[in-house]
Amino acid sequence: MKDMDRRGFITSATMLGVGAAMMPAIAERAHGATARVPLSRPVVISSANGVRASARAMELLRQGADTLDAVIAGVNIVEDDPNDDSVGYGGLPNEDGVVELDASVMHGPTCRGGAVASLRNIKNPSKIAKLVMERSDHVLIVGDGALRFAKAHGFKEEDLLTEQSRRKWLEWKERLSTEDDWLPAHDAAAKDVGAVIARSERLTGTIHCAAVDAKGDISAVTTTSGLAFKIPGRVGDSPILGAGLYVDNAVGAAGSTGRGEANLLSCASVMIVEWMRLGKSPEEACLLAATRVVDHTKMRRLLTDDGRPAFNVRYYAVNKAGQYGSASIYGPGTFAVNTGEQASRLLDGAYLFKTPEKQ
Ligand code: GLY
Repeated sequence: MKDMDRRGFITSATMLGVGAAMMPAIAERAHGATARVPLSRPVVISSANGVRASARAMELLRQGADTLDAVIAGVNIVEDDPNDDSVGYGGLPNEDGVVELDASVMHGPTCRGGAVASLRNIKNPSKIAKLVMERSDHVLIVGDGALRFAKAHGFKEEDLLTEQSRRKWLEWKERLSTEDDWLPAHDAAAKDVGAVIARSERLTGTIHCAAVDAKGDISAVTTTSGLAFKIPGRVGDSPILGAGLYVDNAVGAAGSTGRGEANLLSCASVMIVEWMRLGKSPEEACLLAATRVVDHTKMRRLLTDDGRPAFNVRYYAVNKAGQYGSASIYGPGTFAVNTGEQASRLLDGAYLFKTPEKQ
């Protein structure tokens, strides 16, 4: 981010009531990517795992597809990919070894949204979220009801656990505790068997994808297998409109990846859209959301020794004018953009703190 932009952000952040204590943190951030493209050109943005998704969505937009159909077709590539273990087929399972998926969609031009949570055995929850929007009078359907709704519309059940995800789940289970009966392979001299989980990462991979077309219409989708090895029935931010995703066709779209519990507590996506409505750039609005999460993280168990969150969240935003940006608590990190002129690119997002070196 250029100095002038950063000064602008700090001024506006102060006006919006960002605590003075956060200023050093904001000053620490090093990178950013905000760009403006003419409204006559469509834009698709996505989380970093959405390079193929954003390219596919752009291809469809150029053929005249609706923005929501375009982004859903984009994320379906990742949902179908057995090698992406954070979304759809092959997603990491809950603590019982069962894959449970969450997704939401919003269609800007008609001000509609739909979502599913804890959906089992259907690999494209984004398609079911759209069906909830179009073929029910509801916005969110969960669990067995969501599965029955999908089957009523002709979707076939399938086992979503791949061999790779099952192995990762079993490894987690075996290392969960030194006090249960599940143990990893080890030799007679091994120490701390089972305690390894404290040092292993709980994955919250997700894909978010948003599109603005040449008319300025906006839609977005967020889809995920949620927190790896979660308590069955745990629902993150992805299927909650306002938390994991929000669209206002008059303003723009926002979405999130990372620790869903933090986004649920801050309703970050709707806040980002509202900050953009007040005149913030997408990147500035994403930074304000990351700052809000830092300010609202008070529980010691969620803080590092230096008092910062012990987790990350990342936000993505695009406005009606075609500006886009992304920001996270910890960086550097990237997000995918396709403006139709070239292949999808990964750009640096802004961030508040440098990711600490692993000990
Ligand atoms: N952000 C995805 C989740 O926490 O489920």
